[in-house]
Amino acid sequence: MRSEIIVGAVAALVGGASAHGNITSPPARLPGPAMQAACGAQAISNVESDATIPLEDVFGTTAACQLDLCRGAKFEDNVDLVQSFTPGQVVRMQAIIPIPHEGPMNVSIVDTATNTVVGDPLIEFESYADESLAALPANNTNFSVTIPQLAAGQCTQAGDCVLQWFWFGTAAQQTYESCVDFVLE
Ligand SMILES: *[C@@H]1O[C@H](CO)[C@@H](O)[C@H](O)[C@H]1NC(C)=O
Ligand SMILES: *[C@@H]1O[C@H](CO)[C@@H](O)[C@H](O)[C@H]1NC(C)=O
Ligand SMILES: *[C@@H]1O[C@H](CO)[C@@H](O)[C@H](O)[C@H]1NC(C)=O
Ligand SMILES: *[C@@H]1O[C@H](CO)[C@@H](O)[C@H](O)[C@H]1NC(C)=O
Repeated sequence: MRSEIIVGAVAALVGGASAHGNITSPPARLPGPAMQAACGAQAISNVESDATIPLEDVFGTTAACQLDLCRGAKFEDNVDLVQSFTPGQVVRMQAIIPIPHEGPMNVSIVDTATNTVVGDPLIEFESYADESLAALPANNTNFSVTIPQLAAGQCTQAGDCVLQWFWFGTAAQQTYESCVDFVLE
């Protein structure tokens, strides 16, 4: 118990001192009461102390949290942020990467009921957020995706689908997720 408390405190300090990345536009899911109910108070405290932390720095969750979908953030807390897209629409996305960690990134449509990727990623980087570069390429924080044509009825109800930004820092062994709720018109 004591060692768990110490580990938690050290993690909180490390988390508080660093920041890694998230999606700032279109507006992405934020924590709220539904996430607290599913993920617990410790997880809320972790993501509120640093809204850019990786999944690996979010503690105290159980399977009910579904941390590996949108870092546990819930549709119910974000019903006002649902975007409407049309097939073929080019959607500009903005990210912040205060602390880069080189690795792959993609933005994919994820079916939230099954937590599975729908079709191919809309954008993919083999090497993203490379901290060895003097400056990150502009397209790391400012890029666009084109909304595909989906099967009839797919992603037409709010909450069904998200655009999930998924980035894995290979050497850091850290996973980042940010989700934009949308409906396809
Ligand atoms: C992204 O991080 C910034 C800075 O911590 C925070 O203000 C913002 O709410 C975060 N956005 C999301 C979608 O988590
Ligand atoms: C792309 O993102 C999904 C989650 O949105 C993830 O499961 C998958 O591993 C990623 N693909 C690569 C090549 O990183
Ligand atoms: C990002 O921009 C770099 C040039 O700075 C380019 O080489 C790379 O192909 C671009 N990646 C994507 C996924 O658009
Ligand atoms: C993002 O990139 C687009 C296309 O290159 C450019 O027109 C726009 O000014 C950029 N936005 C920002 C905030 O850098």
